[in-house]
Amino acid sequence: MADTYDFGLVGLGVMGRNFILNVVDNSFTAYGNDLDPEKVEALITEGGDTEKVNATTDASTFVQSLSLPRKIMLLVPAGKVVDIVIDSLLPHLDEGDIIIDGGNSFFTDTDRREAYLKEKGINFFGSGVSGGAKGARKGPSIMPGGSREAYQHVKPIFEAVAAKYQGEPCVTYLGPKSAGNYVKMVHNGIEYGLMQLTSEIYDILKKSGGLTQEELHKTFHSWNEGRLQSFLVEITSKIMNRKDDLTDGYLVDMILDKAKQKGTGKWTSQNAMDLGIPVPTIDIAVSMREISALKGERVQADEVYDRPEPETPDKTKLIQEAEQALYFAFIVTYAQGMHQLADASKEYSYDLDLGEIAKIWRAGCIIRAALLADITQAFHENEALPNLLLAPSFIEKVKETVGAARKLVAFGATNGIPLHGLSNALTYFDAYTSSRLPLNVIQAQRDFFGSHTYERLDREGIFHTEWED
Ligand code: 6PG
Repeated sequence: MADTYDFGLVGLGVMGRNFILNVVDNSFTAYGNDLDPEKVEALITEGGDTEKVNATTDASTFVQSLSLPRKIMLLVPAGKVVDIVIDSLLPHLDEGDIIIDGGNSFFTDTDRREAYLKEKGINFFGSGVSGGAKGARKGPSIMPGGSREAYQHVKPIFEAVAAKYQGEPCVTYLGPKSAGNYVKMVHNGIEYGLMQLTSEIYDILKKSGGLTQEELHKTFHSWNEGRLQSFLVEITSKIMNRKDDLTDGYLVDMILDKAKQKGTGKWTSQNAMDLGIPVPTIDIAVSMREISALKGERVQADEVYDRPEPETPDKTKLIQEAEQALYFAFIVTYAQGMHQLADASKEYSYDLDLGEIAKIWRAGCIIRAALLADITQAFHENEALPNLLLAPSFIEKVKETVGAARKLVAFGATNGIPLHGLSNALTYFDAYTSSRLPLNVIQAQRDFFGSHTYERLDREGIFHTEWED
């Protein structure tokens, strides 16, 4: 069956194997490639019919088995491996073939690879894939960027395999060059923010509210039936009542409180700084993972410093306020991420459609949430919306819930519970909605010590004062 397979995939780890089987489930034929013969064998066995799905360790056989233009997806670790795989495929490819990087590559690497391959007549797509192993098998959210023309060859396959939201596929052409990887990077930044917020709400409910694991499970479960409906709240509810296999307790209580990271959240923050766009809830989520890593020091410091005498809040009220505060902070986190995308779109000429991005995040991906349907609508109503907090449909939602965020943040502060993400979302909100900030003082200080000049409220021009006179 040479030359006839519709789709090729390099990297037959869990994600790759699941993605290729998803392609085959959708009536396309596919060919896999991996250096590891065991992974190749595993795919052939699981696929069952080599006319539909086959695999090899040999790059040349792999490439020659695909129909033109070849559509080859890489699901390999981001970084050097991507370059190595591209170079191993290149001698066998023909002009017009398409390589799709489905990993979490850094967006400037994608730009470099796109330019390198363009010279050789090969189309390169940086395409974020979200949804984990299960998503890859059952329907992920796919975020492709690259040549619009070449996308037409990939489109039928991607639309078939992507998750569906009310029948609509969670994939769309996002923009040129690294647009797909960039959007996926910000998706992950938002993911970091939402995860941090969820963990803080768990903390306050458990430590101050005294909720048992069963109560926590039920609370997150019921929230997932309402406006907070989202993948992350859903899995948090499941995590809460999962019993430990090794002890009599709950598994979550036995897990070491040091969160790891592969870098996409940090890249989001770093790039937001470069752009000059504030995404503090994402920044803080990265910082909290870093603080969490200092376990030894934290244990030492905990012994030296006393914590405030704990208050016992009304449990029912605390749960209600926690729901409202989490909803508020989720909105703020999406607002920051969308703001970053809007600015990056101009800076890197991606020409992103924020409504379409929110639309393909409604299902399949890690940050899927009921809120994304509202976000989609807000950006479809006004594609130039500067910030979600200014969308008419969000103003009431925010007004109704910000009070609870204030109460929780105050409670956390007096009780010594670190609500870093929540307090940050609130401070961002308070700053963003202040027509007058104290940064006039900073301007005065800058002018005082460095003659950096300032502008005035009452007249045009640039001013300097000799402050000591
Ligand atoms: C997804 C996820 C995924 C990411 C993990 C782990 O959308 O499916 O974002 O791409 O790799 O979430 O990320 P960290 O190791 O950085 O937490």
